[in-house]
Amino acid sequence: MLTPIIMAGGSGSRLWPLSRQQYPKQFLALGDETLSMLQATIERLNGVKTNAPVLICNEEHRFLAAEQLRRLAMDETNILLEPMGRNTAPAIALAALQAVQDGEDPVLLVLAADHMIEDVGTFHSAIGVALPLANDGKLVTFGIVPSHAETGYGYIEQGETTGQGGFAVARFVEKPDLATAQNYVSSGRFFWNSGMFMFRASRYLEELECFRPDILAACREALDGGSQDMHFTRVDADTFAACPEDSIDYAVMEKTADAVMVPLNAGWSDVGSWSALWEVSAKDGNGNVFKGDVLGQATRNTFVHADSRMVATVGVEDLVVVETPDAVLVAHKDKVQDVKRIVERLKAEG
Ligand code: GDD
Ligand code: MG
Repeated sequence: MLTPIIMAGGSGSRLWPLSRQQYPKQFLALGDETLSMLQATIERLNGVKTNAPVLICNEEHRFLAAEQLRRLAMDETNILLEPMGRNTAPAIALAALQAVQDGEDPVLLVLAADHMIEDVGTFHSAIGVALPLANDGKLVTFGIVPSHAETGYGYIEQGETTGQGGFAVARFVEKPDLATAQNYVSSGRFFWNSGMFMFRASRYLEELECFRPDILAACREALDGGSQDMHFTRVDADTFAACPEDSIDYAVMEKTADAVMVPLNAGWSDVGSWSALWEVSAKDGNGNVFKGDVLGQATRNTFVHADSRMVATVGVEDLVVVETPDAVLVAHKDKVQDVKRIVERLKAEG
């Protein structure tokens, strides 16, 4: 059976000032106005036969997560709580270790809680294509045809067909520099890594044992020393604090010989930055996306989010303006990846 593992422990710092440490983007309703990105991730699985999902997020967000699940009538969802973020390789390791505890070995469908997918039917078909491959012991990633040289993504070089709708992964390169990304995109042989994966729990643990035994050992010890409280699973904080930080992409996917890619052409987007959100939103005749009380005069290709006050723009283009009660962001649309630098500075300056 298939067990969805939903990773919701990121900080979403490029979407500051809407996304905050206490309220990161996966808990916000960014695209759809009614469901948060986390809720949309869970709803998107309606119609796929799965076990109950497992949510893995930061301890700090347990009430937020539980409340959002309750609104979907999913109160029984098992929530794994991390005392601090150690990135996705340890997060998935905890979920995989827990999944094999009772001698079972489910196929895990690992999902990020911050993606949008337009065509849910096609997404479900791709899950159907991936399942036998994962059952066979492959580590499946879902590949997206790239539209531009994005440096915030992983790239997958397409290899030979595996015959079941999948392709061998000739190479997996996480977050290349711009020149490399440009070469990859123009070669036509590369896909973006969507950041969603499917594999048997035991296969992930075997590969982690091979490439990052230190991470696996720390996670095993942290889970063994943890506790269960209703449907919350806690891990031992001191042990987990000592766990090295790494993403699944660097720790396992770049290194494994058993990676397989299943193409996904379903209007996928990672709403990682303000320009990405502008990209996927409905625009007016001038290419603007205005949310809230906004007046634009001679304004083009601009994103404005007004939270608590009216915002007006005159004679500008390619801007991002995000107004909240205590902070306002004004950025060039091409530079929004660097919004995270502001968050780093705010943290450093206390
Ligand atoms: N539980 C938990 N703990 N979740 C985490 C943690 C953590 O420490 N860190 C990140 N996450 C969650 C995020 O909330 C998000 O849902 C998902 O894991 C991916 O993390 P990101 O930090 O958003 O990764 P990324 O966008 O930089 O890169 C990944 O996704 C790209 C596509 O969106 C990689 O897989 C890339 O290769 C991929 O192209
Ligand atoms: Mg992301």
